[in-house]
Amino acid sequence: MANQKTKTVYCCAECGYESANWAGKCPSCGAWNSMKEFRMQSGAGMHKGGSATESIGKPKRLSELDTSKEIRFSTGISELDRVLGGGAVCGSLILVGGAPGIGKSTLLLQLCGKISEDRVILYITGEESERQIKLRAERLGIEHDLLYVYTGTDMDGIRKTLDLVQPEIMIVDSIQTISDSGVGSMPGSPNQVRECTMQILRLTKDRGMTVFLIGHITKEGSLAGPKILEHMVDCVLYFEGERETSFRILRAVKNRFGSTNEIGVFEMHADGLICVENPSALLLSGRPEHSSGTCVTCVMEGSRPILAEIQALVSPGGHNASRRSNGIDFNRASMLIAVLEKRGGIPVTACDTYVNVVGGLTVDEPAADLATVLALASSYLDRPLGSELGAIGEVGLSGELRQVSYLNQRLSEIHRLGFRQCVVPANMKEIPADLPGLELIPVKNIRQAIQMTLSKQSTD
Ligand SMILES: Nc1ncnc2c1ncn2[C@@H]1O[C@H](COP(=O)(O)OP(=O)(O)O)[C@@H](O)[C@H]1O
Ligand SMILES: [Mg+2]
Repeated sequence: MANQKTKTVYCCAECGYESANWAGKCPSCGAWNSMKEFRMQSGAGMHKGGSATESIGKPKRLSELDTSKEIRFSTGISELDRVLGGGAVCGSLILVGGAPGIGKSTLLLQLCGKISEDRVILYITGEESERQIKLRAERLGIEHDLLYVYTGTDMDGIRKTLDLVQPEIMIVDSIQTISDSGVGSMPGSPNQVRECTMQILRLTKDRGMTVFLIGHITKEGSLAGPKILEHMVDCVLYFEGERETSFRILRAVKNRFGSTNEIGVFEMHADGLICVENPSALLLSGRPEHSSGTCVTCVMEGSRPILAEIQALVSPGGHNASRRSNGIDFNRASMLIAVLEKRGGIPVTACDTYVNVVGGLTVDEPAADLATVLALASSYLDRPLGSELGAIGEVGLSGELRQVSYLNQRLSEIHRLGFRQCVVPANMKEIPADLPGLELIPVKNIRQAIQMTLSKQSTD
């Protein structure tokens, strides 16, 4: 210890950028007053958890590598399995991020109750007391014989507990509360978060256990502390949704063992999170009937078609027309507003326009263009489109409708939810399957789409 040197570094609390000199504005992310001073002992933390080379053995030929061990296991929560790419991979480090109160602890405690009874689980919590955990587990109806709860937050204590319990699955709630005494900074600081994650990563790989790491997200939307957390782990899942609504979406933004397209949909109830097998029905529930400025489309979330309601509000603007979009890219919405004026003949650019996707869903597919345009036109004209009409299609700058992928899957979902009409591009690549009761309205451009749906009041 005597020959350890202390070095001072400045670290940005927003993005984790490190520098030897202080700066008022972070050179990396541009945040003001975010550079904090840290005193580090060189080699801090490295003496613990074994050296990085400990887990590295002799190189092996590809043909010699052993694949007979279990690779994935089910978490018992179907929507979580789906996002992870068909269950959790043994020996992986999974980061579950989300705003405070969104339901991260609830989800992972529920997972403890669902996982097979013969697996040993260690739940480390620095956020709640033993009593709080017990009460929550009772409320959620969780029972598991081999579930151990540890409320310490020091890496040394965690390491000793791991030796004692020998868990197959470990949950750390949350990484911002864990600290290592060798790092001279507060828990939750970028240095601590990074160092502790590094040590947990080593423990994960050395012990072959599966670790779920909870991380809080700051207001700006990034994980508090260093962003580098994201590339240290195998999987990054984000829990999204508005706290006011019960709807929650779990999205993979990084997955070393599967696709990042899939989403998991949950609903928050008093007795915990419930998997939503049929998100379209939930998203459309409470939809106003006979009201203008709303149109339903179908977006693909991974392999799953989901119906989304796009709402628009167009009102006469003053000198500076304002524009807002929620759940849909602002630039895309602005482009569609311009196309609607120039090619659809509806003068909306001078108006205040608001576009919203209901349920906190984010739509980033061009297939939702036509529904956005129709919702805007419907609001401007103050004529409803009819509650049994859907619209699918990409809109080009000439106002032309372009074909979309997975048309049949989207139409099937629209049909399944009881819609009677759907506006589709006239030049379809796929021949649509015959869906009894669903009338297709093929259109070439947005002007024609508006004429067919909003000029004559035949839709309802
Ligand atoms: N006693 C309770 N009854 C009903 N719902 C509760 C109760 N306690 C917490 N919740 C719900 O759980 C949410 C908190 O979830 P939690 O898993 O603690 O979030 P996180 O760990 O992401 O901060 C609250 O927003 C609330 O909706
Ligand atoms: Mg929590």
